[in-house]
Amino acid sequence: MGTPPLAGESSRSVSEATHLRGEPRLPGDKSISHRALILAALAEGESLITGAGDGRDVASTATIVAALGATVERVSEDGLNVDYRVASPGADGLHEPLGILDCRNSGTSLRLCSGVLASLPFFSILDGDSSLRSRPVARIIEPLRLMGAELHARKSDALPPLVVIGRQKLHGIDYTTRVPSAQVKSAILLAGLRAEGPTTVREVVATRDHTERMLRARGVAVRREPESEAAGGSAAWTLDGGARLKQIDQHVPGDISAAAFWLVAAAIHPDSELTLRDVGVNPTRIAVISILGRMHARIAGDVFHSTRVLGGELTCDLSVASSDLEATDITPEEVAAAIDEIPILCLAATQARGKTTIRGAGELRNKESDRIAGVAAGLSALGARISVEGDNITIDGPTKLVGAPTQALDDHRLAMTFAVAGLIASGSTSIDRADSAAVSYPSFFTELERLQA
Ligand code: S3P
Repeated sequence: MGTPPLAGESSRSVSEATHLRGEPRLPGDKSISHRALILAALAEGESLITGAGDGRDVASTATIVAALGATVERVSEDGLNVDYRVASPGADGLHEPLGILDCRNSGTSLRLCSGVLASLPFFSILDGDSSLRSRPVARIIEPLRLMGAELHARKSDALPPLVVIGRQKLHGIDYTTRVPSAQVKSAILLAGLRAEGPTTVREVVATRDHTERMLRARGVAVRREPESEAAGGSAAWTLDGGARLKQIDQHVPGDISAAAFWLVAAAIHPDSELTLRDVGVNPTRIAVISILGRMHARIAGDVFHSTRVLGGELTCDLSVASSDLEATDITPEEVAAAIDEIPILCLAATQARGKTTIRGAGELRNKESDRIAGVAAGLSALGARISVEGDNITIDGPTKLVGAPTQALDDHRLAMTFAVAGLIASGSTSIDRADSAAVSYPSFFTELERLQA
């Protein structure tokens, strides 16, 4: 990784926009892009991944799978998305990495790869930037140790760097995750692929199911109880060890978590109309749209009845226009299902009539920054009425925002939230460390300018 920019070097200013019109381009879904690279490395042969998000996080996973022995070629790129050709000897042919595996800012790279590495008989170290080094890894270490792998981390196994000494033969476990986390669930299932016996992961609140779908598409029998697909309720996932993954090509649909910034931008701006194409509307990812719908956002699209399948995932086009938003109550289950969208939903709440409450948002403290503190500080600086009590957030609206300096804390979702706020705040809003948007959305600021033309 290059030298990080000095504070202020990457700050951006956004001015109040007169209107928003057009079709912002979306990055390929970040969660699916990571998984496509990892699964391509576990299967023997060659595959093409088209439309992967070209953010820094996914690039970290590409570098890691290459360090393990897969050949990863960028066959085309457009500054937002990238097509990869991956050729792999298969899981049995992967080798011990020569150096430290640098996940940089990417928690998904660290968590998912640790599951894979736990089942490979060699030594590896996963590390990252200062943000990643402050994010918890005990949630990964505990189940992977129970499966027979050896893992160690800094601060009595709390924080990265993470050392993984994998085992050729893990044993399957039946494990209930302590926090709703698709990353933890995925790490266990990925380790379970090469374990003896079945591996079951139980979730009290179902989280995104891309790993399970993508494994099924590659020939692994993944069973779900109950069979219903939505996020929210509990779920148990089981797979048997020893399955060989089929190599397949993967197309990556547009990232709904990236789309959320434009859904809110258009809903809160008084003169706007935006269209988003091929947005992934996997049933475990659409809570953000249900919540915005409840807030009376004028979103149109086949979100709940889509039959258009792209790369094994439901997709649809969405259009959104200026809306008169109403406050809502967001439950802890909804927080889990819209975990990455809570910062931008907080901005939406500042423009909604009434008091919005968000309960049980504690997991946001474990993201790229403490997102509860970060979003409250940034939106307060713009004049929003937002208060935090324990893990609950309360926002009173509507409030006319006033441009001011904000701190993105090197967190891509905060940078994009404050930039969207700048579109409706009077005057100019500056965002310190705005370049962090490129972690998930490299062309975000280009799109933002284009919509105002
Ligand atoms: C992700 C799961 C979520 C999410 C992250 C991506 C994934 O993290 O916040 O951006 O791809 O599995 P947790 O599983 O830690 O909640």
